[in-house]
Amino acid sequence: MKASRILHASVNVTGNLEEARQFYEEVLGMSTTPRPEVPGVPGHWFAVGDAQVHLVAAPPLGTDIDPTANHFCIAVDDIEATVAELEARGVPYLRATQGDEEVVQVWVVDPAGNTVELQQDRVLS
Ligand SMILES: [Fe+2]
Repeated sequence: MKASRILHASVNVTGNLEEARQFYEEVLGMSTTPRPEVPGVPGHWFAVGDAQVHLVAAPPLGTDIDPTANHFCIAVDDIEATVAELEARGVPYLRATQGDEEVVQVWVVDPAGNTVELQQDRVLS
């Protein structure tokens, strides 16, 4: 596994999506970027340089690996090889696809309980 860059950071703003959107836009100066439809998960995306900030407005799932939890997402050079490596190491992960089904998302939890998402680096693929 080789991490190449940070793609996004995601913060959960459940109950405060509109206020949070205004804060990130007006106070922090972020610009809106298109967000694909995520069924059952309201949110808003901002572009910050080459990366993004994602606002998520869905309550915690209560699962061991929760994609709605605050997290950051790193790009990896080969997502399928990364998944194979996680399995070989016995690291639990959650896998899903987004939007056009071509974006594979994988979430893991570090030993301190922080959620980390992994995606294929499309620049490298
Ligand atoms: Fe994410």
